[in-house]
Amino acid sequence: MPPERIPIASDHAGFELKEKLAAHLASLGFDVENLGTSSVASTDYPDYAHPLAKEVSHGDVERGVLLCGTGLGMSYVANRYPHVRAAVAWTPEVAEMARRHNDANVLVLPARLLTEEAALAILDTWLNTPFDGGRHVPRVEKIERTEDSE
Ligand code: RB5
Repeated sequence: MPPERIPIASDHAGFELKEKLAAHLASLGFDVENLGTSSVASTDYPDYAHPLAKEVSHGDVERGVLLCGTGLGMSYVANRYPHVRAAVAWTPEVAEMARRHNDANVLVLPARLLTEEAALAILDTWLNTPFDGGRHVPRVEKIERTEDSE
């Protein structure tokens, strides 16, 4: 089996932490797809969230990781895409519940509010926690419903 490809992207606010998390993912054996940004020069977070969210939405990859200052802007963009469930997680407990109950397939980290150690703990929890399934399946399916689709 080839290693799982996992995209990761950030704006300038998340750049330094993204590089550390990308190295961590590579050390775990993932095929890391670093979608930028490539420096601390000011950038626009949507430019990085759209390509990653598209990959997840189209099923090209199973999951991905985004970082910006608060995590909010990246999550707004990613959650506009069908089948994307992007969770901002600021503790391992939030990441665990985002997987167990919400089947979150994009992890969004608030880079300006986390230490490297905290971010690594959140990432590892998100990577290693399965979806609980069961009663959460119909709830997750209802996420995609809109007024128009009912
Ligand atoms: C950049 O200053 C900041 O606005 C961005 O990283 C993010 O927090 C937006 O939601």
